[in-house]
Amino acid sequence: MTAAIYRCAILHCRNRQTVEFFSDGGLVVEGGRIRACDDFACIEPLFHGLPVVDWRGSVLIPGLVDTHAHLPQLSAIGAERADLLDWLQQVIFPLEARFRDTAFAERIAEAFLRRALASVTTLIAVYGPQYEEATDACFRVAAQFGIRAVMGMTLMDSNAPAELLSEPSALIAACKRLINRWHGANEGRLFYALTPRFAGSCSRELLKQCGQLAAECPVHVQTHLAESPGELAWIASLFPEHPNYTSIYDRAGLLTERTILAHCIYLEPTELARIQEQGSAIAHCPASNIYLRSGIMPLSDYLKLPVKIGLGTDIGAGYHTSILDEARYAREVAKVRQMIHRSGSVPSLAEAFYLATLGGAEALGFADMLGNFSEGKEADFVRIAIEPYRTIDTAEHALEYVLYAGTQNVTATVIAGVEVWQLQ
Ligand code: GUN
Ligand code: ZN
Repeated sequence: MTAAIYRCAILHCRNRQTVEFFSDGGLVVEGGRIRACDDFACIEPLFHGLPVVDWRGSVLIPGLVDTHAHLPQLSAIGAERADLLDWLQQVIFPLEARFRDTAFAERIAEAFLRRALASVTTLIAVYGPQYEEATDACFRVAAQFGIRAVMGMTLMDSNAPAELLSEPSALIAACKRLINRWHGANEGRLFYALTPRFAGSCSRELLKQCGQLAAECPVHVQTHLAESPGELAWIASLFPEHPNYTSIYDRAGLLTERTILAHCIYLEPTELARIQEQGSAIAHCPASNIYLRSGIMPLSDYLKLPVKIGLGTDIGAGYHTSILDEARYAREVAKVRQMIHRSGSVPSLAEAFYLATLGGAEALGFADMLGNFSEGKEADFVRIAIEPYRTIDTAEHALEYVLYAGTQNVTATVIAGVEVWQLQ
């Protein structure tokens, strides 16, 4: 088993509030896992004889986690419309219908996942195409690239062009085949997510069958919830028997410990409480929320609760591919909210960094193996070069630098101890 000590500055989260920083740190990696993380002066005598990879002049952070994106939407970045529902109808549905062509799907998957790795995402929860063969091709590309991904075929049976829709029983049968092929594949880097697009695209029957399958096998579930005022009104008219939007998924059995709910801007306290109780997670997508004029999620209020939260790029309503950019944006958007409402607080630098790393891993249910540099976890990390005129000798300095200047200084992405992307 290969082993090495990486010598450099190291920044990671112990938990939501606490970061740990070593200005001259040592990260011991053995067989693709973390053996130890401490000051280099403490590590060196304990692991004397191991080769030292001298990365001084860089700061190492854990691999970033994107908890929500759409693979088929890469080429729609920037194609703006008045709001979410117009954008879906006019831009997104016609584009997604092109994924009937599996060769096209494969080309986009390569471009999308290469871009994700270059943006130092090591784990991503992502919507795939509406077609089984195209989704299969996306999984194949993800396996080639070595990225960790939670992915699923986008499921729709209502309110969209016919070429995007199928019968619930046919969709569920396709999911079962994809689960058999891909869930846990590539040495446990790939996972399946049942992906009912949102209540606006799914009949009661489809939601029910998804819930039944989620109860039968331990796969993830990903969907959208409470994203825009227009969507909320429309969903309420489609499902008048429900007291609120969350209840639609809840009664279908879709709020599980492995469920990721994108956006969650407009939730009543009872809905939040139910999400928390069920152990489901929120994917906060601040760039997308502004881009489509959906709203501003009250992040700092949610951070006071023990509800799981990660960050999502939401490509292609989102336009950053970097979760570090999204973390920075989460703070800047909270500042706007504070200025407008003259109340509320802004997440700290540490909280924003947590959301991008350990928070994301917790949201996707992988905190036992990813998200920080605790002993025994997978060695997923990112090397960020420190600009020569910058002094970084405290945790605060490191957080400021990583969040506000990190993206443009990334030089390598490592998954399970192996470099999967380097700056050329
Ligand atoms: N709600 C339903 N589908 C989508 C989508 O593709 N993107 C976003 N942002 N919201 C959605
Ligand atoms: Zn989305």
